[in-house]
Amino acid sequence: MSSALEQLKATGTVVVSDTGDFASIGKYKPQDATTNPSLILAASKKPEYVALIDKAVAYAKAKGGSANDQVELALDRLLVEFGTEILKIIPGKVSTEVDASLSFDTQASVAKALKIIKLYEEEGISKDRILIKVASTWEGIKAAEILQRDHGVNCNLTLMFSLVQAIAAAEAGAFLISPFVGRILDWYKAATKKEYTKEEDPGVASVKSIYNYYKKFGYKTIVMGASFRNTGEITELAGCDYLTISPALLETLSTSQEAVPKKLDAAAASALNIEKKTYINNEAVFRFDFNEEQMAVEKLREGISKFAADAVVLKDIIKAKVAA
Ligand SMILES: *[C@@H]1O[C@H](CO)[C@@H](O)[C@H](O)[C@H]1NC(C)=O
Repeated sequence: MSSALEQLKATGTVVVSDTGDFASIGKYKPQDATTNPSLILAASKKPEYVALIDKAVAYAKAKGGSANDQVELALDRLLVEFGTEILKIIPGKVSTEVDASLSFDTQASVAKALKIIKLYEEEGISKDRILIKVASTWEGIKAAEILQRDHGVNCNLTLMFSLVQAIAAAEAGAFLISPFVGRILDWYKAATKKEYTKEEDPGVASVKSIYNYYKKFGYKTIVMGASFRNTGEITELAGCDYLTISPALLETLSTSQEAVPKKLDAAAASALNIEKKTYINNEAVFRFDFNEEQMAVEKLREGISKFAADAVVLKDIIKAKVAA
């Protein structure tokens, strides 16, 4: 019998490795991969990556400008260097994150994304191998709409915890969304002090509802489940377009013989009775509907704050090197 990982792939799900570490990306040969300040921060503690930081700093210093400009540029360049290295090992696309501190600024997010695309182009990498990752705030979703429509830049909408965000993302024409599973479970466990089986997992239920909505109404936006706490959350979503999985859980799945039947099915979704909604030109209703979901509001707030804090730590490391 083939491994749980092989069976999962056989349901049609594309498996992506959730790591910024090239060694483990090389090992699991995922289709796509991602990079962000948090992952780079974790990876940059390893000696083999220090050289990349030094290269990014040298690049920024050569361009001159104020110390702040140099730190900004070095960070962007570092993200691009990691992305470029990752693209040497994977056949697909790499996601690169727009600084989370810009999550409430549409224009600044668009400008940052275009800057990242330009830095990739300098490395000879075309935009069709890049996904720009933005938080699923109203402003972030609007930035994605502009990037997709006016610049042909594909976006990955992250920090997604609700169908409301997913509907707005689909209407914005986002290439891909990455709804979180484990972080939703974390919130419910803390709030209710209950344990959840994989069948009652609220994170799984959230991704299922998004998947069914998209398939029912014919949206092309790719649904990529992310942030898993256990393999049960993963196998319950077998059949989802994409799943991004940590190296540790990939390892467990590749050594498990457990049966993995298909759970999500596009054809079955079209027969479901689901209410259609729209947030086009309706920011106020979007904000109200989103606000009705306490979990989603709190997890989005926390996620932006944490990503921004990791970027600050990384910037401090870079700042010290720029000054040296
Ligand atoms: C999209 O972003 C998520 C984080 O939200 C990440 O885990 C995933 O790998 C990214 N997807 C792709 C295809 O890069």
